[in-house]
Amino acid sequence: MDQLILEQFDAIFADEEYRTENQVSLLANASAFIKELVPDLNWAGFYLWQPEAKRLELGPFQGKLACALIANQSGVCGTAFAQQKAIRVANVHEFAGHIACDAATNSEMVIPLSSNQQPIGVLDLDSPKLNRFSEQDQKILTELVAKIGQLLANNRQTN
Ligand code: SME
Repeated sequence: MDQLILEQFDAIFADEEYRTENQVSLLANASAFIKELVPDLNWAGFYLWQPEAKRLELGPFQGKLACALIANQSGVCGTAFAQQKAIRVANVHEFAGHIACDAATNSEMVIPLSSNQQPIGVLDLDSPKLNRFSEQDQKILTELVAKIGQLLANNRQTN
């Protein structure tokens, strides 16, 4: 994966057709974009933080039916969100507390998503390949997630 994906994202999401005023549309298209352009993924999507319930809840995604609720600090997603840092898991079967949604998944990367300087959720990527995600992938996808957060901040309505 290279920087080209960032330019493609800018080009597509600058288009009027993709400019919406709600969070669901943007995150739905962002998950479709990522699933399409990042090779070897079986699942790509968002979990969004619900402050009152104090847990992550399933947001827009591409892939198989997934667990809807992730308790605070649970799984790879809850850990990445609580620590506010990206986590790459080379082999999910060796990650204590990993929450299995799709049995095909062997490796995973989770990147926290913020908007207006507020943590709002995570991007979760699953791959059937072991050790799918490199440091370079993390760097590029972290930049992509920052762009998504920026677009959300630009939207007037955020629900
Ligand atoms: N594996 C994640 C749960 C979400 S599914 O992969 C879509 C986790 O451990 O948090």
